[in-house]
Amino acid sequence: MPMNCFSKFEKLRQDFPMLRKCMHGHPLVYLDSAATAQKPQAVIDTITDFYQNHYGTVHRAIYELATFSTREYEDARKKVQNFINAESADEIIFTRGTTESINMVAYSFGKAFLNEGDEILISEMEHHSNIVPWQLACEDRGAVLKVAPIDDRGELIMEEFKKLLTSRTKIVALTHISNALGTVNPIKDIAALAHACGAVLLVDGAQAAPHMPVDVRDLDADFYVFSGHKIYGPTGIGILYGKASLLQQMPPYQGGGDMIEKVTFEKTTFNILPLKFEAGTPMIAEAIALGAAIDYLTDIGMVNAHAWEQELLCYATDRILEVPGLKIIGNAARKGGIISFVIDGLHHLDVGTILDFQGIAVRTGHHCAQPLMKRFGLPGTARVSFALYNSKADIDRFIAGLHHVIKTLKR
Ligand SMILES: Cc1ncc(COP(=O)(O)O)c(C=O)c1O
Repeated sequence: MPMNCFSKFEKLRQDFPMLRKCMHGHPLVYLDSAATAQKPQAVIDTITDFYQNHYGTVHRAIYELATFSTREYEDARKKVQNFINAESADEIIFTRGTTESINMVAYSFGKAFLNEGDEILISEMEHHSNIVPWQLACEDRGAVLKVAPIDDRGELIMEEFKKLLTSRTKIVALTHISNALGTVNPIKDIAALAHACGAVLLVDGAQAAPHMPVDVRDLDADFYVFSGHKIYGPTGIGILYGKASLLQQMPPYQGGGDMIEKVTFEKTTFNILPLKFEAGTPMIAEAIALGAAIDYLTDIGMVNAHAWEQELLCYATDRILEVPGLKIIGNAARKGGIISFVIDGLHHLDVGTILDFQGIAVRTGHHCAQPLMKRFGLPGTARVSFALYNSKADIDRFIAGLHHVIKTLKR
């Protein structure tokens, strides 16, 4: 993208009311979008308008409000379908977030397809959300969890991965972008490898869907999951994409209203996709507002957003290396807009606290990836992560903030 196209990104901040706030007397520099993204006014307005002017339930009534809500809710599903290029809107299940989506697959795929001695393959760089549900599934089904190692740069060691992928592997569950290292995994290649062994692939897209174009058909992912709140939408809404042929064979995750076809005390039959997996009154306002977030992103263009965030990543990587004693954790050849770092002799919590006093919000800790921290022999790191509303001025403030941290803590 030509450089002058980036000028619009420097102005996007104005769309996000939270970014006008001051923290500790300083204008907020928000560098924790990997945890959760700020919301554009369009998303906030959609929620308010829905509750003020249109609120009603979905799928269950014939009156006007319910018809409106149902149409908007199902339109949001279609927006998600187009956003990730799924074949059908029936393959889009609304969940509470990435975590619930993975739990849903681990439980339901597990019940349908996992047997004693089967294997599940994950990697050393996974978020706890892509570890613990598989441990639970293994316990439930007598399956075995295998973990593919990574190298010192934070890249999957493909030779080791291939060795661990066998005819016993039923599912590979891998993050698209590591939330703690920024590594982008070669998902398309991995899908081909998994399929050649007869396994299916679940991709944890929590850190990818908000920041790069995702085409689930091109990737040939069997399941792709992400969270609304990281993609500029509200909390409490997430996506499970699954190939219809698999979802149809999987039992429901929860029972209740909406997910049934017919209920008698003797036997219940289930609704067709996607409602089979959406028991109870769903997150109506949240789904509709997620639709507004997708509209906002589509307007900007994911290719453009990705290019801008890569520009920020390059700029920040160059500048952060000026800071004495600082080491980046995660130096993969392909990275998303995430930089984890440690500074000699300083605790990450102190670094984060002193940055916060300057109005700069960064994440500190183990990033819900304790096994990964163990792999690097670290209790935690500090992490900055970029979104489309960040600017080079944010990065300059952050670097100045780091110099101040060092002056304060090392004097
Ligand atoms: C890679 C990754 N997977 C899963 C999750 C869990 O997402 P949520 O808490 O929205 O369910 C996160 C959140 O940080 C993440 O970064």
